[in-house]
Amino acid sequence: MPQPVLGILTLYLNNAKQLEEQSVYRRMIIEGHRMGLDVFVFTPADVHTSKEQIHALVYDPNTGKWSRKWRAFPNMIYDRCRIQRSERFQQLLRFRSRYNHLTFLNRPLRNKWTVHQTFSQKPRFRQHLPETLLYNSSADLLKMLKQHQVIYLKPANGTGGRGILRIERLKGTRSVFDIQGRRLDRRIITPRKVSQSRLEGIVRQWCIGGRFLVQQGIPLRLSSGRFHDYRMLVQKNGNGVWELTGMAGRVGAARSVTSNLHGGGHAVRAEILLKQWLGSEEKTEKVMKTAEKLGLEAAAFLEDSFGALCELALDLAIDREGSIYVLEVNPKPAREVFARSGDSSTYRKALVRPLEYALWMYKNKTTPSSAKTTEE
Ligand SMILES: Nc1ncnc2c1ncn2[C@@H]1O[C@H](COP(=O)(O)OP(=O)(O)O)[C@@H](O)[C@H]1O
Ligand SMILES: [Mg+2]
Repeated sequence: MPQPVLGILTLYLNNAKQLEEQSVYRRMIIEGHRMGLDVFVFTPADVHTSKEQIHALVYDPNTGKWSRKWRAFPNMIYDRCRIQRSERFQQLLRFRSRYNHLTFLNRPLRNKWTVHQTFSQKPRFRQHLPETLLYNSSADLLKMLKQHQVIYLKPANGTGGRGILRIERLKGTRSVFDIQGRRLDRRIITPRKVSQSRLEGIVRQWCIGGRFLVQQGIPLRLSSGRFHDYRMLVQKNGNGVWELTGMAGRVGAARSVTSNLHGGGHAVRAEILLKQWLGSEEKTEKVMKTAEKLGLEAAAFLEDSFGALCELALDLAIDREGSIYVLEVNPKPAREVFARSGDSSTYRKALVRPLEYALWMYKNKTTPSSAKTTEE
């Protein structure tokens, strides 16, 4: 019997045809090989539409070598493509729409604002959302700063902690604000204290050329002065059911208002960090349970709203009282956080689960729901 075939859809990083996660894919191919799943890697640029064939990147676990082979379209596609400003990305959009009828384990989600609005329709999720507005004018900024001492300004389509400002109204002043953050290229800006009118000008400038969210800031500063949050990964398992894979803490770099690993953050075990933060084992367990339930329900809800998903990472902010807030959800998560926090069994689980799910889907001939909305 022929083996089921899974194609990992990705994008080249540059014209040298380098791939960002090639070593991750190698591991997935090796694991797939053990499980009876034939896995190859391809990008939209490797698809020959008239031939209906793919000039795929294949890895041979026996020789340890990558090579190119002409392959038929796979039975299932695991889409790892993240948004990028390039012709390659436009080509991807054309691929997704032309081959919409193929079986995708996961469909693209929408931008942070649309996801926020979708969640906020449900009281179940609304309680876990920081108050958020789409920035239109200074009035939005001032409205939020009246209600919250700290706000975050972030791009609706941002990733990796880029283009994020943290604005704090200084205590004991009516209108002096502290601004810190990272530019779109992730460089840390020089922190400064500014008047309200200066702030309005800076924010107006910051938001040129894109849509930005103004969001209630959740207090996440550790006693070390660094900011932290939690990354939770939920995935569909080998029975097609959502399951928690793991959760890790992320501690930002010094002088960084974001905790992303790519911005110099480091990963720690969630239980340890959370226990230090909340002060007791009981509270930690309770919050972890609540977070798990939230993550699983959020994934199922987003899948219903936007189309098939096989995994979802949630960036969770947990305040000192143990209230949980969803800062963002990520349908194409890196798994490095588990390797970096020293949790190698969770890391492995994170790699293997999408393969187990693909096998389950193939055996059950289930077709996950197709995209429910058009991409912007
Ligand atoms: N509302 C907020 N309150 C506190 N910290 C935040 C808030 N929003 C973002 N952050 C910090 O900035 C980081 C990046 O924000 P996020 O919304 O996850 O965007 P990105 O897509 O760039 O990762 C978060 O991991 C967190 O450290
Ligand atoms: Mg994030």
